[in-house]
Amino acid sequence: MESSEASLAALRWLVEAGADEAVDEVAHDRMARRATAPVRRTALRSSPAKPSSPSLASNDAVLASARDLAHAAQDLAQLRAALESFDGCTLRHDATNLVFADGNPRARIMILGEGPGAEEDRQGLPFVGASGKLLDRMLACIGLDRTSVYISNVLFWRPPGNRTPTGNELATCLPFVERHIELVDPAFLFLIGGISAKTLLGRSEGILRLRGKWAHYQPSGMSHPIPALASLHPAYLLRQPGQKRLAWQDLMALQAAIRSGKDPLLIG
Ligand code: URA
Repeated sequence: MESSEASLAALRWLVEAGADEAVDEVAHDRMARRATAPVRRTALRSSPAKPSSPSLASNDAVLASARDLAHAAQDLAQLRAALESFDGCTLRHDATNLVFADGNPRARIMILGEGPGAEEDRQGLPFVGASGKLLDRMLACIGLDRTSVYISNVLFWRPPGNRTPTGNELATCLPFVERHIELVDPAFLFLIGGISAKTLLGRSEGILRLRGKWAHYQPSGMSHPIPALASLHPAYLLRQPGQKRLAWQDLMALQAAIRSGKDPLLIG
């Protein structure tokens, strides 16, 4: 094979495997870097008796670390700093930026998507790519924008090539997501996409079954449940525009709840 053909074939193979963008000027051999300099895990820094290599650190220790760090955060700045110092979620090693949140932290509506895509990873902000633009238009239909909602995800780093996150990655981020919700204390949660809805509501059904129904979500550190409405992800709507009518119904339900100011599950 000509060398240019071989290079193109190698490039095609990388794109198919999910390595679909260049993130630096030079290539890094990350395997070599890890072999010589093991990544430290925050939980283990204060506990010298435990192993410091990720391969030796047990998943339980990582989850306990995530819970401790998240619970110690007393405000959003501290929660963000805790995530920045947390090495336990492997997604961060391939990500360019932590994607924490956007919008108004005092808003009554908190929107939770799945996880950052390529543009979000680049900018360090949630929902700024194509699906974010559709989300903005959907919110505008019911009179909302980023000054009246607070937006985050159930993952704080981009899964490489936008692959489906593993249960372990979701579980590692979950204590931070729960604390995030506790600190914001929104009146309503809008969960967009199956991953977000299933993770927070602890359900296994697909999003087409979960959407459009109110459920209660109560983080362990909260004294009251928060009404949560699951809906379709804008990325799905971009692929399946015919399903926008379902998303419209959900937006109408959210708007009605905001207007009434009451928990839809407590209204007869
Ligand atoms: N999709 C998501 O679920 N979240 C983002 O931030 C961007 C795209």
